[in-house]
Amino acid sequence: MPATVIVGMQWGDEGKAKVLDALAAEIDIVVRYQGGANAGHTVVVGQERYAFHLVPSGILHENKVCVIANGCVVDPQQLVKEIEELRGRGIKVDRTNLLLSERAQLVMPYHKLVDQLSEKRKEEHGQKKIGTTGRGIGPAYVDKVARAGIRVVDLLRPDFVKLRVQQRLSELNPLLTAVYKEKELDADTVTREILSYAGALKPLMADTAAYLNKALADGKRLLFEGAQGTLLDVDHGTYPYVTSSNSTAGGAATGSGVSPRKIETALGIVKAYTTRVGAGPFPTEMHGDAGEALRQKGGEFGVTTGRPRRCGWFDAVCVRYAAEVSGVDALALTKIDVLTGEKELKICTGYKLNGETIDRFPADLHAVEHVEPVYATVPGWEESLADIRAFEDLPPAAQAYVLQIEGLVGTPIRYIGVGKARDALIRRG
Ligand code: IMP
Repeated sequence: MPATVIVGMQWGDEGKAKVLDALAAEIDIVVRYQGGANAGHTVVVGQERYAFHLVPSGILHENKVCVIANGCVVDPQQLVKEIEELRGRGIKVDRTNLLLSERAQLVMPYHKLVDQLSEKRKEEHGQKKIGTTGRGIGPAYVDKVARAGIRVVDLLRPDFVKLRVQQRLSELNPLLTAVYKEKELDADTVTREILSYAGALKPLMADTAAYLNKALADGKRLLFEGAQGTLLDVDHGTYPYVTSSNSTAGGAATGSGVSPRKIETALGIVKAYTTRVGAGPFPTEMHGDAGEALRQKGGEFGVTTGRPRRCGWFDAVCVRYAAEVSGVDALALTKIDVLTGEKELKICTGYKLNGETIDRFPADLHAVEHVEPVYATVPGWEESLADIRAFEDLPPAAQAYVLQIEGLVGTPIRYIGVGKARDALIRRG
């Protein structure tokens, strides 16, 4: 697999980092291509638990290079903090294993501020919040597209940064004072703060598109690590309750400078049930005690914000759509062990809308909010799955659950996650 992309098939938190960790032996370079510190990836190694936001989780492996590519929005304060934390835990982080695209956009302090103020204002005015992570992601991408952003490479030109900050704040300060009733930001203070990270980041800066294309030509194996999930993609997700980047497979090409013709394989990561953080429609959501029980069993709390995740049954309509949009060749089904002990399981096989059955995920948000899931009810199992490493050793009901999902989505399930441990994974075919 010279170049593979892994993509979340739901609303994020599908367990991508764990699958990536399991594939590590087959990878030389791990590439983050979109998003920023809104992502939260957790990997458990022995007794140690690592939470990543910006640094690709591949950093835990020796002899791998991690790349934060041009499609990402990088909060320098957060990146420097993560690097220092990793170094503090004895993990080497330097130019030999972490490269930062010169073309990536910076998340500025005012992006984080506006993200948080805008959400707060919506709440105060009785409007629906998006439920963002507050990490400045949306405002940073807005500035990128408005051509008002500041890029990583600009950190090497203090005068240019100063000018850009002055320009941006000349527009933003009136908004801060008049609309948000906040104090103005001082351009010199913001400039000084942002430039204070330049020294730490300069050694990692690179033309990562050139690096990745050369690596491919040299026969290196690349893995593109999508953050968030398909239903949070700004084009294909439940807009406007989405993140501000393309988290689908297509984003890997624009977000890295590697041609889509060279990204040969796509692996979809899908949880054995569904979760969502933040606002927005969620057809198979379980409310009340049932949802709470699944949340506790699955440890479904956000890595970035600590917010409880909304939980629900597996939704084959959503996953079929996601599999199509990213053209996935295979799936990794994660956290099936969490379903142990459920007497019966429900799988959403289609939706009903105004009395009609539909099997496509609708574009119209109003429709997604009002669809009625059509469920198949299947038996559960009682056995612990954590030590099982072969599909045939799974309880028959668990095998049937996997096969039914495979059939409904129409994509082979190649990996099955059966526990928290690094090796708690079944490989099929
Ligand atoms: P933002 O990306 O912070 O702007 O948040 C937009 C939406 O995406 C919100 O519903 C967030 O909860 C969600 N979101 C962003 N990053 C993640 C993630 O890594 N996992 C799950 N949800 C996420």
